[in-house]
Amino acid sequence: MTLPVFQLPPSAADAARIQLAYANDGATSCEARMALEQQYAALLTPTDEFNRRLVSYQANKQARLHNWLKYKEGFSAQLVDILLSKFGVQAGQKILEPFAGSATTLLVAKELGIDAVGIEILPVCHLAWEAKSQYRQYDIPELQRVRHWLKVTTPGLNEVAFPHVTITHSAFTPDQEAKLMWYRDQFDRMAVSRLTKLLLRLILMSVLEEISFTRKDGQYLRWDARSEKVQTRNAQRTAKGRAPVKVFDKGRIVDVRDALSGALDEVIRDLEVMQQNGLPASQQELIKGTVLEVLPQLADQQFDVVITSPPYCNRYDYTRTYALELAFLGVDDQGIKDLRQSLLSCTVENRSKLHELGSYYTALGRSADFDRVKQALDQNAALQEVFAALHTRGLRGELNNQGVIRMVEGYFTELAFVIFELQRACRSQAHVAIVNDNVRYGGEIIPVDLLMTDLAASFGFRPEIIYVLPQRKGNSSQQMGKYGREANRKSITVWARN
Ligand SMILES: C[S@@+](CC[C@H](N)C(=O)[O-])C[C@H]1O[C@@H](n2cnc3c(N)ncnc32)[C@H](O)[C@@H]1O
Repeated sequence: MTLPVFQLPPSAADAARIQLAYANDGATSCEARMALEQQYAALLTPTDEFNRRLVSYQANKQARLHNWLKYKEGFSAQLVDILLSKFGVQAGQKILEPFAGSATTLLVAKELGIDAVGIEILPVCHLAWEAKSQYRQYDIPELQRVRHWLKVTTPGLNEVAFPHVTITHSAFTPDQEAKLMWYRDQFDRMAVSRLTKLLLRLILMSVLEEISFTRKDGQYLRWDARSEKVQTRNAQRTAKGRAPVKVFDKGRIVDVRDALSGALDEVIRDLEVMQQNGLPASQQELIKGTVLEVLPQLADQQFDVVITSPPYCNRYDYTRTYALELAFLGVDDQGIKDLRQSLLSCTVENRSKLHELGSYYTALGRSADFDRVKQALDQNAALQEVFAALHTRGLRGELNNQGVIRMVEGYFTELAFVIFELQRACRSQAHVAIVNDNVRYGGEIIPVDLLMTDLAASFGFRPEIIYVLPQRKGNSSQQMGKYGREANRKSITVWARN
């Protein structure tokens, strides 16, 4: 294992502060995590260069093309730009983005004329990629005709129901739903090109949240108090003498026609600018499927840089927050459950994938690699300490949900396989940058950045730097209230392949 070279020892004050944060009530050991903090202390580099805006979707809100679908889990195009120039990536090289999401990295690569491969499991993201990546080819006058038609045509009401799944029922008023389905039908029948239809489908999907009673809110979809779902639930609660669920008021809900017109206006404005500029020739591809199956099939040593952000280990469930969009695309209840299980384990419902991974590697004739990754996990003292500490917290009834233990175990197990495969697929001296958040459960700090880095080092990466992002002031999470003011570190971890 390659150890980082230390230039600066951590200050005594830093060490004391970190020690205090880890050791909450002495019920569990934090020695191995403290050792990890010390081992990598010199790499932890606080910086204002990458702020929260850049590592989140916020900076994309005004970015042409990137804001066609508000993918709140995305990072910004600017972040990708900065990292690529830091690593000196040029045309002729190749980028890998294993958790491609709304394809931010792939689209930046396209603009710069750099080849790139992405992997993504959610169909929502694939529609976004298909529609966005063809921006050079759209026929703007045809889109303007559709825009005019939207303006002059009063929407009808379609009796075909939205293809709801259980958790999306009553997401729209009956009137909004009937109009939405009417537009879908009209767009399908319109005498326009295949590409315009593709774009209209993206636009329809992109307005679903805006026209509904729901709002994406991290872990869940929040529901407005006017929705039938909340009203029924509250009536049932009141009947049982229980307090109603907390009321959420989404404010004005945008009319379907206004939402579609607004989205199409924005797209046309973007295209008018973007189609002016020439594009250097390059190739990008977004592969459909799970990283755990796709990565092991990629050829050795072909990538010069990896820029990515996996789901965080924070219980956020993409299949719930994107349930409306998934249902719109025809994914049914079973499909949603299957997707949830295939995602990198980040919800309390995820079951272990270790057995499946074992069978998969055996089928590929690579059981030795499986054993190697498994051994790296078993021998990682800090990781084993985290697992043991969570088990103790679970037994003491200090976890809100026992499923957290399996989630954290699954998360690191799966990430270890991902990191191992990244090492194999990267060329010598390739850079890897990963955006992630540390988390805390039952008071136990889980230093995701350092645990990933340590696993990476054991697979042949050289940890170079961990950019620590500025903390949000006044962070008042429940955990912080209970366990002190140390906020969870948010970072960009950078490694180079040996
Ligand atoms: C934090 S988001 C990345 C967003 C991306 N950087 C962007 O700018 O849009 C993580 C992505 O990983 C995807 N994902 C989760 N588990 C996956 C898996 N097993 N295989 C492939 N993609 C997965 C999620 O669907 C999500 O889009």
